[in-house]
Amino acid sequence: MTFDGTPLSARPGQSVGAALTEHGIRAWRGTRGKGAPRGLFCGIGVCWDCLITVDGVPNQRACLVPAREGMDLSSTPPGLPLPPERPPGGGAAEGGRP
Ligand code: FES
Repeated sequence: MTFDGTPLSARPGQSVGAALTEHGIRAWRGTRGKGAPRGLFCGIGVCWDCLITVDGVPNQRACLVPAREGMDLSSTPPGLPLPPERPPGGGAAEGGRP
């Protein structure tokens, strides 16, 4: 897989967030206000700190997306709109987000 054009490896079963962190990449987006760096925080899909663009699709949670061969990952610039707090059509909240 690649991250911002840099080739990276991942182990079978590893999440994107775990693979990035293992390579020393600790942040891949900035907060909307001050652009503070964000990466893994909860690691279980609750905090939304780990949003990343995967194969051109923004706002994917790196801690939940399984790493796979050929994946194109890119850091998310500050100010990119976040997904809705609740899934379209209702349903349970997926936790707070920054
Ligand atoms: S690290 Fe919290 S949702 Fe991914």
